[in-house]
Amino acid sequence: MTELNKIALNILSNGKGILAADESNGTMKKRLDAVKVASTSENRLLFRETLFTSKAMKDCIGGVILFDETINQKTSLNKTIAETIISSKTTPGIKVDTGAKPLANSSLETITEGLDGLRERLKKYYSLGARFTKWRGVYTITKEYPSKLSIHSNAHALARYSALAQECGMVPIVEPEVLMDGDHSAEDCFVKTSEVIKKCFDELILHKIDLTGIILKPNMILAGTQSKKKASGDEISINTVKCLKESVPSEVPGIAFLSGGQTEIEATENLNLINKNNNTNFIMTYSYGRALQQSALKFWSKDINNIKETQNIFNHRANMCSLAAQGKWSKELEN
Ligand code: 13P
Repeated sequence: MTELNKIALNILSNGKGILAADESNGTMKKRLDAVKVASTSENRLLFRETLFTSKAMKDCIGGVILFDETINQKTSLNKTIAETIISSKTTPGIKVDTGAKPLANSSLETITEGLDGLRERLKKYYSLGARFTKWRGVYTITKEYPSKLSIHSNAHALARYSALAQECGMVPIVEPEVLMDGDHSAEDCFVKTSEVIKKCFDELILHKIDLTGIILKPNMILAGTQSKKKASGDEISINTVKCLKESVPSEVPGIAFLSGGQTEIEATENLNLINKNNNTNFIMTYSYGRALQQSALKFWSKDINNIKETQNIFNHRANMCSLAAQGKWSKELEN
């Protein structure tokens, strides 16, 4: 077993998943504006430190994805954020892309940037304690999109990023996110997601990536948010597993889904059904941002110093996700 494979399995095994707390300052401002809390670096730290010191970190969270600001911050006990995360036997990770920008010659689509100077940035993050990384390519579904150009160029960037992350001893999370926005059907989502993921693996293989040392972070196969015909939980789970079985090489140790705008309960229920229907050898777990943090953030915003109750809410959500990652969740457990 390689060191990278060991890191990946440590993050994903035993019903654990990933807490995606890597919102950029811009995205975090949107989240905090929505609950009427000022988006200062102190408040961003306070909320995140509250999550990172909760009990669920030990029991349910195998890895935390951080943003550059956070990995450079110190907690109220004057410990680094990485030390705090490691003290729960959880692995710190870092988002290293610098965002999705308009794609030249197809400017309604995006290309994710951040390759320039990446090798040096990775070394710095490794020295700060990060052992895995994240890069997100973004794709929209319309009649003409995602274009071949966006599928190809984002796959290329994901592969070059992955090669540099592995060179530096860190596991790359490869995140091709086909967005839920739009009126497309679940069938369209299946077709486009399959094409996107297959192209990513073509490029990862071309770039000689050790596939046992990556984590794939895909979307589930859902109908668009404006689609008239919603897919049932059974359809979502069966199609998601089928898509991944057909598109992902068997060496990949695990798949950690993004929540992508699903509610906390939808993301939990769908992950649970995916695990009940999982006829592959892939670990299938969560790498949720909103679907792990939403209720905790809402409660915290009313009383930002109530650490204990905020942690109780986060612990519950993470426990539910962990049960879903093992196919052991049921609706009754929510109460
Ligand atoms: P969501 O689960 O809120 O989609 O966030 C996951 C993530 O990391 C997006 O890049």
